[in-house]
Amino acid sequence: MAEDFSVPWAPGVRVLYGQAALATRVAELGSRITADYAGRALTVLCVLKGASLFTADLVRAIALPLRLEFLGVASYGSVEDIVDTGLTLRFLLQALVARGCRSVRTCALLDKPSRRVEAVTVDYTGFVVEDRFLVGYGLDHEERWRNLPFVGVLERSP
Ligand code: IMP
Repeated sequence: MAEDFSVPWAPGVRVLYGQAALATRVAELGSRITADYAGRALTVLCVLKGASLFTADLVRAIALPLRLEFLGVASYGSVEDIVDTGLTLRFLLQALVARGCRSVRTCALLDKPSRRVEAVTVDYTGFVVEDRFLVGYGLDHEERWRNLPFVGVLERSP
């Protein structure tokens, strides 16, 4: 397969969603959000760091005069990169509502429902994925691999 272990500097990472697949899906999400929020005030809140690359592409696919904000949360120890147990998203939603947000919808590029311990709704999902550790397109393993231009499965730690 042309898109398997595709970059020589990340030999243990197998491509799951390549650049074309990501661009297509992000464009679809952007169109849906554009339609849903037409005529309404929209603030996109990016959860750092993992969702940074996804958000950069997504906001350019939304044809509305939106505001863009960034927020850091410490997980493992909105716009999300990946929803795993759901604890991060649940915490964020509660914090936003407590601060007076009247309407919050969630968007995640990746959703791992098999790992969920908190029942959170993801309103806009890019891809539903199996329980694998993913890197690239903003996602890291020990702070590396965020700059891979694709989402890949970390098969072995390089
Ligand atoms: P949750 O609170 O368990 O839903 O965790 C969500 C956060 O965990 C994400 O925003 C990521 O920072 C991190 N995470 C979960 N799964 C992965 C993965 O497969 N690769 C990289 N980071 C992950």
